[in-house]
Amino acid sequence: MKKITDNIFYCGVEHHDRRLFDQLVPLPCGTTYNSYLVKGSEKTALIDTVYPEKAEELINKLKEAGINKIDYIICNHGEQDHSGSLNEILELYPEAVVVTNAKCKEFIMEMLHVDESKFKVITDQETLSLGNITLQFLISPWVHWPDTMFTYVIEDKALFTTDFLGAHYPTSEKNIDKSGDKELTEAAKRYYAEIMMPFRSFCAKYVKKIRDLNVKYLLPSHGPYYSNPDFILDTYEEWTSDTPKNLVVIPYVSMYGSTELLVDYLKQSLEEKGVEVKLFDLVKSDVGELAMELVDAATIVVGTSMVLAGPHPSAINGAYLINALRPKAKYFSVVGSYGWGGNMENKLAEILGNLKVEKLNSVIVKGKPTNDDFIKVDELAEKIAEKHKSL
Ligand code: FEO
Repeated sequence: MKKITDNIFYCGVEHHDRRLFDQLVPLPCGTTYNSYLVKGSEKTALIDTVYPEKAEELINKLKEAGINKIDYIICNHGEQDHSGSLNEILELYPEAVVVTNAKCKEFIMEMLHVDESKFKVITDQETLSLGNITLQFLISPWVHWPDTMFTYVIEDKALFTTDFLGAHYPTSEKNIDKSGDKELTEAAKRYYAEIMMPFRSFCAKYVKKIRDLNVKYLLPSHGPYYSNPDFILDTYEEWTSDTPKNLVVIPYVSMYGSTELLVDYLKQSLEEKGVEVKLFDLVKSDVGELAMELVDAATIVVGTSMVLAGPHPSAINGAYLINALRPKAKYFSVVGSYGWGGNMENKLAEILGNLKVEKLNSVIVKGKPTNDDFIKVDELAEKIAEKHKSL
């Protein structure tokens, strides 16, 4: 186990070859499930467990470190990548008490069938002494489930933040503290975009709360921990701010190339007007990369062909995902092409109902775009560039 402070040790496990999370989120580099041991002068606490199929690795680490007794297992979040080995750990340390909040207890009982007698339910700000050090529990819901909480080791100024501030990033005990790494920033942004962005206002609130604590260590449950908290707090402040960047994201699908002609022309026209543009072919793109650009985009333009009188199913799927992620974009439009008729704009606007966006003119053309159609695309680009000047 890697020593972090005199009282805190890392005992998490790596999952380098995992490529998909929740059967949805791509993991280009795998992930880790971070478990930590906090050893006080009188009591020992394990902070979270690991993904069920990695239980044995955690158990081996604890046995190799000669841990004969665990008094408390702190569950900061009930999702099974952190709680999933709880039964195996309780079998090894039957005297351990599971310490968590009421909502997390409910989830763990439902998902893992842990007996109610095993739990100690804590409330916000409550403390638990381990002898020379004290744990304090900070109920912090909605990053990203209603049960999430943080655990603070007061004397070490170390905060365990569960999924919040994490990253699906390959680490090992040797390089588990990587504050300042550029690749880590990308991984943390992808993670924020895919998991935390729908809860942006909660994220902003908790960043402020953590700043006020003036912590020395941030210890999330995926990826590296941070001995330089400003590194991740600064980036989260930027990502969660209300101000988007001068960026247009264009997710599109094109059946016979006409929609592609429109989005390519729109990209060129916007760039000539000083607007950055990112195109995503919805048939081929990594949804994580799309999500990352949505963190900053001021405008989203969906490009779609018409299928059976409505948007192409790939565009519907893309719009559904964008709506679920709730990016901070301020403007929205549709460009596309159709063969015989239908309506794409209303359906897409309906799917994107969560977004607080102003709808700009759409450019919907019959068949292959004509010169007149490209003039309309130029007008749309002009309108977007003008809107972006007042961001
Ligand atoms: Fe890493 Fe919400 O679990």
